[in-house]
Amino acid sequence: MTAQKHQSSITGNFTTGRAPGALPLIGHAGHLMRRPIKFLESLSTYGDLVEIRLGTQQAYVPCHPELLRQVLTDDRTFDKGGAIIERIRNLLGNGLGTCPHRDHRRQRRLMQPAFSKARLEQYAEVMKREITALCESWQEAQEFDAFAVLYGLGLRVVVRTLLSSELDDPTVEQIRHSFERALQELLPRMVIPQQMQELPLPVNRRYRQDLQDLDDVVDRIIADCRSAGLEQGGLLATLTDGHEGSAIPMDDSEIHDQVITMLLGGSESTGTTLSWAFYLLSQHPEIEMRLHEEVDAVLGGRPAEWNDLPNLPFTHSVITETLRLYPPGWLLSRITTEEVELAGTRMPPGTTIIFSPHVIQRQDDIYGRPEAFDPDRWSPDRAADLPRATFVSFGGGARKCIGDTFGEIQSTLALSTIAARWKMECAPDADVRPVAFDFAYRPRRLILRPHLR
Ligand code: HEM
Repeated sequence: MTAQKHQSSITGNFTTGRAPGALPLIGHAGHLMRRPIKFLESLSTYGDLVEIRLGTQQAYVPCHPELLRQVLTDDRTFDKGGAIIERIRNLLGNGLGTCPHRDHRRQRRLMQPAFSKARLEQYAEVMKREITALCESWQEAQEFDAFAVLYGLGLRVVVRTLLSSELDDPTVEQIRHSFERALQELLPRMVIPQQMQELPLPVNRRYRQDLQDLDDVVDRIIADCRSAGLEQGGLLATLTDGHEGSAIPMDDSEIHDQVITMLLGGSESTGTTLSWAFYLLSQHPEIEMRLHEEVDAVLGGRPAEWNDLPNLPFTHSVITETLRLYPPGWLLSRITTEEVELAGTRMPPGTTIIFSPHVIQRQDDIYGRPEAFDPDRWSPDRAADLPRATFVSFGGGARKCIGDTFGEIQSTLALSTIAARWKMECAPDADVRPVAFDFAYRPRRLILRPHLR
């Protein structure tokens, strides 16, 4: 396959191509489900903008950072939509992450105050308490499932910080299982015809039950939060009175959609990031040693807090490098709302764009030795040399992750606090292939064994 050169009407010279290996009816869906990363990484060899097929539907993948930047910064033309978002709307409704452009500005304005610097500083206290409790629950060499436990941490933190509520262990597990099963159904549902999805089959009944279970738990969290009193000033208070954003407040169904969006956005992402970070550190003892040096010097065994963050640059670089190699959101989509030209390709309204941080963040000509785990890439002098829009683990433009700093703070506090007390060994039966069909990019089996330092 040779890439064709086009003069783009927007900027610069870009190549276009088509990915080989599409099968009748399913297109490239099999590749995306069986070996997603290999497939995504291969795409840039066919061009800067590459056509793939999802089922019988055509989609385009921007493989050049500049093209992806154009897509992400024009959120009116490249709106939230397309196969993946349509499916995820079954789960998240019309919340901040899934709503179309026409609803987005108002929703974002209402939600933004909950992520202000002052609020983040308060949340850091809650994060510290939850992380410390987790660290104290471990015993020497007592193994645990990395994702389940670190996901639980993320979920508890989101609920306690944003919703001023608390969750017991069985509820955390119930939420994790319901999300896990519902999310694993999403990708196959992109290619299964709608009529089949409505048949009274056990798989369809279970899917609907999982959605119902999640709705019930969200309603309970909202009720708890309300009975605790809105004056506590969490996200719910901001959304209900709308005073800080000076926008029309949200009604109950909108609030429901925001809460479920936060439960998903805030837990899977930090759970996978920390799981991969411990896996990578266990494979790179020299980097783990440098992390230990930093946390010993700054924390001396105590839990990390807000004021420590500026003194933990290496820990932060370990998190950023983990996010480069293993971005939790690995498959995202947009839909064009009007005719547009991208890389010289004329796209009618309704064209699907698929993007993935993997496509950009594992390119050799951007990141030199992209497969290497090298946190020093993020030292200020080296990071300054990176071209713009080449780190997209949090997305970009107006739809960039609202919880990016929240997630970074939580991951940095957790990694440093845990590393100050525990050295993690990775059990030998780890299977770090990504979970097939899953929405978040996470290892299939990663068991950690903590050792007191
Ligand atoms: C390491 C942590 C995280 C990563 C890597 C991450 C990644 C992302 C990405 C890639 C997007 C953009 C999706 C798109 O363009 O289609 C996004 C959006 C979003 N994320 Fe995160 N996220 C993280 C943490 C969080 C946390 C902690 C929260 C909430 C507490 C959160 C809530 C959201 C929401 C609500 C959106 C939608 C924003 C909008 O459309 O305005 N995320 N995230």
